[in-house]
Amino acid sequence: MSLFNQYKKTYQEGKTLPQNFYTDENIFSEEMKSIYFQQWLMVDHVSRIKDPGNYFVFEAEKESIIIIRGKDNEIRAFYNVCTHRGSRICLDEEGSKNLLVCPYHAWSFSSEGKLKAARYMPDDFVKEDYGLRKCHLKIYEGLIFINLSMDTPIDFDEFIAPLKEIVGFHNTGKSKIVSRKKYPTKANFKLVLENFQECYHCGNAHSEFSAIHEKDWVYTMGAGLGTAPEKDTEEYLKKISPWLEDCKKKGIPSETYLETEEGLKLGLNRYADRTPIGNGHLSQTKSGKPASTLMGKFKDFDGGLSQVSFNPFSCCYFTNDFGVMFVFKPNSTLESEVELIWLVNENAKENDDYNIDDITFIWDVTTQEDTMIIENNQKGLLSQSFTPGVLSQNESAVTYFYNWYFTNMQLP
Ligand code: FES
Ligand SMILES: [Fe+2]
Repeated sequence: MSLFNQYKKTYQEGKTLPQNFYTDENIFSEEMKSIYFQQWLMVDHVSRIKDPGNYFVFEAEKESIIIIRGKDNEIRAFYNVCTHRGSRICLDEEGSKNLLVCPYHAWSFSSEGKLKAARYMPDDFVKEDYGLRKCHLKIYEGLIFINLSMDTPIDFDEFIAPLKEIVGFHNTGKSKIVSRKKYPTKANFKLVLENFQECYHCGNAHSEFSAIHEKDWVYTMGAGLGTAPEKDTEEYLKKISPWLEDCKKKGIPSETYLETEEGLKLGLNRYADRTPIGNGHLSQTKSGKPASTLMGKFKDFDGGLSQVSFNPFSCCYFTNDFGVMFVFKPNSTLESEVELIWLVNENAKENDDYNIDDITFIWDVTTQEDTMIIENNQKGLLSQSFTPGVLSQNESAVTYFYNWYFTNMQLP
């Protein structure tokens, strides 16, 4: 019996996972192959690499991927692995280069990934056979997705289809990055993701976030629909139904999307909803006032918040005036990283139209708090005294997350 199946036998539904799921390196490698490398991962926004030769390097687990705009303006992704003897090629996190020169023996590659120069090679050496190894890449509305599968990944168009309407309405294709920040987290990636599946901790750990939103929103919708008991959720949805009706009338997509049975079977876990921030707030800012000019197809502020999750590693939040991309990365068994990227309308001007501190405030402070509670969670979980605890009725989405996790780990 595989290690995973042995461990899974010790899992009891309604409780957290047993300790070895978070500590065993063999399980971590299996998770990378069976889950992380199979998903379409949102990694960045096209405005990071505006001109030909602009590139950045995306690193997660043992992989390092160069994402570069070629002379033909096309964005491509390549493994940051030299086709000579395997050295890393790009050592900087980002930059601009017409030629990518390997620091070992100076083989050089074009921004389209072709091998351009290699000295003293045998006569029968065919340069065309040694271009950089491609990584799957797709762009939707300015959002860059990669897939680390070595085979044919799940079809991108099918994957993105149910989330197109809502993302398209926010028009991230016509936005630009105004800020980004990394939050290295000393914890297993599942603890990082689990934290994002529930808002049971929000009232206690996120005083700023809880002050911005209405209490019943935090309870029923803070981590998406289905995290609180049904009757409480229904009561909340009834309360906001006039607001949702109004969205419908205005043609603003506000339907909740929950993953289908079919999608789950394929290992997908997509989600979208749109609800009012509450408390009369127009944006997710400290004051509740707008932080920038309108984004996307909005004609007016309606104080809505869209929560979009492409998969648990790749999520976005959008208000009427800005967006935050959440990129969750597993690095090793006990190390992860969260990166936040803030977007505004591409025509908005700093200071005249927006102030970066207003835009970044809530998710910066909330993510710092999350980093702390997740690291404390990991520390306690390493104790010899740890045993899985019972999940509350406000953490149902954690069990849903485990089911998605188990499905993926058992896919052929
Ligand atoms: S390993 Fe890159 S040139 Fe030799
Ligand atoms: Fe949190």
